[in-house]
Amino acid sequence: MDRNAPVGVFDSGIGGLTVVREIMRQLPDERVVYFGDTARLPYGNKSKENIIRFSRQIIRFLKTQNVKAIVIACNTASAYALETVKNEVDIPIIGVINAGARTAVQSTASGKIGVIGTEGTIHSGIYTQVIRKLDPKIQVFGKACPLFVPLVEEGLFHDSVTDEIASRYVSELKAKYVDTLVLGCTHYPLIRSTLGRIMGEGVVLVNPAYETAIELKTLLKEHGLDCEKGVKEQEKFQFFVSDLAEKFTSFAASILPNQVGEVRKIDIEEF
Ligand code: DGL
Repeated sequence: MDRNAPVGVFDSGIGGLTVVREIMRQLPDERVVYFGDTARLPYGNKSKENIIRFSRQIIRFLKTQNVKAIVIACNTASAYALETVKNEVDIPIIGVINAGARTAVQSTASGKIGVIGTEGTIHSGIYTQVIRKLDPKIQVFGKACPLFVPLVEEGLFHDSVTDEIASRYVSELKAKYVDTLVLGCTHYPLIRSTLGRIMGEGVVLVNPAYETAIELKTLLKEHGLDCEKGVKEQEKFQFFVSDLAEKFTSFAASILPNQVGEVRKIDIEEF
């Protein structure tokens, strides 16, 4: 395997760009091929069966781009598909759940962790499972927050509507006195300041995107797949979507530090 090959990253749409942003910051030499499944999002309210099917198609597409490793940036796809697809690929593959869960376990002093995410992620119980495996004494309180994704996609990062909805969603977690809150959905880091203010100073917010970039760095090193320095800038990032390339481009430009360039639309059902 070529150590200078790109890393494949995929998500249901734009949210996974929060993971790409961390990869850009923490692994600045790595090339990335990103796929956002904008034709079929949201994943958060779809069945496990479908998420596994979508993930398999995307992995087949990413393999055509000769990626050396894959990051499932989507929490819902990590929750539903990683266990299954990791046995089907011959390259390293990680999701975002383990890194977030591990950090939450390290952070909690009270042993009470809150997890917010899509309906799929919360109902899968995956964060609870992984956290309790690491430390069975920890209590985990999950809360699905389905309205956050559309609010973020509307750009309402700092808005009284987002404040009001966030207060309602997290009130039951506050009542449990959690001291750590996992932002278990790609979109939530974008409303981090709102969530931080509402949860209060004593609560640590865990961003799995940040922790996943660290895990990726370690994984690539362990496999001797970390990129050499000095790969040409123009080949560095490639973006593919299954629909609405223009909308994706403007969102990406607003959250990524690097230029996005051309976003190509592909028919993912062909894979
Ligand atoms: N990317 C999804 C996640 O992290 C959120 C958006 C969606 O529901 O597709 O779970």
